[in-house]
Amino acid sequence: MSLSRQELKEVLRLLAAEEPEFIEELLGERFLRNPFPPCQAGENLISDPSAKISSLAHIEPPTKESPIMVGPNCRINDFAWLRAWGDGIRMGAYCTLNQYSMIQGSVTLGDGVRIGAHSLFVGTEHIKIRTDIPIYQQGVEWKGITVGSDVYIGSNVTVLDGVTIGEGCVLAAGAVVNKDVPPYSIVGGVPAKLIKERK
Ligand SMILES: CC(C)(COP(=O)(O)OP(=O)(O)OC[C@H]1O[C@@H](n2cnc3c(N)ncnc32)[C@H](O)[C@@H]1OP(=O)(O)O)[C@@H](O)C(=O)NCCC(=O)NCCS
Repeated sequence: MSLSRQELKEVLRLLAAEEPEFIEELLGERFLRNPFPPCQAGENLISDPSAKISSLAHIEPPTKESPIMVGPNCRINDFAWLRAWGDGIRMGAYCTLNQYSMIQGSVTLGDGVRIGAHSLFVGTEHIKIRTDIPIYQQGVEWKGITVGSDVYIGSNVTVLDGVTIGEGCVLAAGAVVNKDVPPYSIVGGVPAKLIKERK
């Protein structure tokens, strides 16, 4: 027996009111805790069971030296991309990586770091000392990026290698952050400058 659209809506409304966890479970089915079978992601993707990683996110299989650790209640959304190098990628609890954002290199996020869509963490840099050989043949180096807890990162933000962002900061939409940001600062622009202090 099939339900009409209206009846279905009523059932869902009732369920949402009385069984919110069941609805959450249903909606969550499109999210997988571990996006790839072990043969692809390997044991070096260490994800807390409460973290949700979209099956549409892309995680390049991390290595033992450069693992990826995803903390409790993190969410990695569709089309986000993780590529670990150097010391790997570590995300604390309650971090969100939104659509089309990418974390590359050696990047550590505290707790509650929320990253808007189309943002980029470039935790690596091309070596470009020599001019007698092409840049692409000189290799890559990294210092790593560190982000404190409770940081809100808008859309289209680029954070360059070597930068440390203090806790409680806001990176305004479109910022290119190439210098350290003191705690509780709001920065924006290209290159990012102080807009406001939160305290
Ligand atoms: C920075 C932001 C949080 C606003 O913070 P705010 O404290 O309310 O700041 P205000 O709106 O009062 O703006 C303060 C100054 O910063 C400037 N500013 C605001 N956003 C800016 C941005 N993205 N880039 C550069 N300057 C910006 C304002 O023009 C203003 O400058 P003025 O004093 O010369 O007029 C907001 O503009 C922003 O960028 N939000 C990110 C939104 C987003 O991408 N969300 C992703 C969803 S997950």
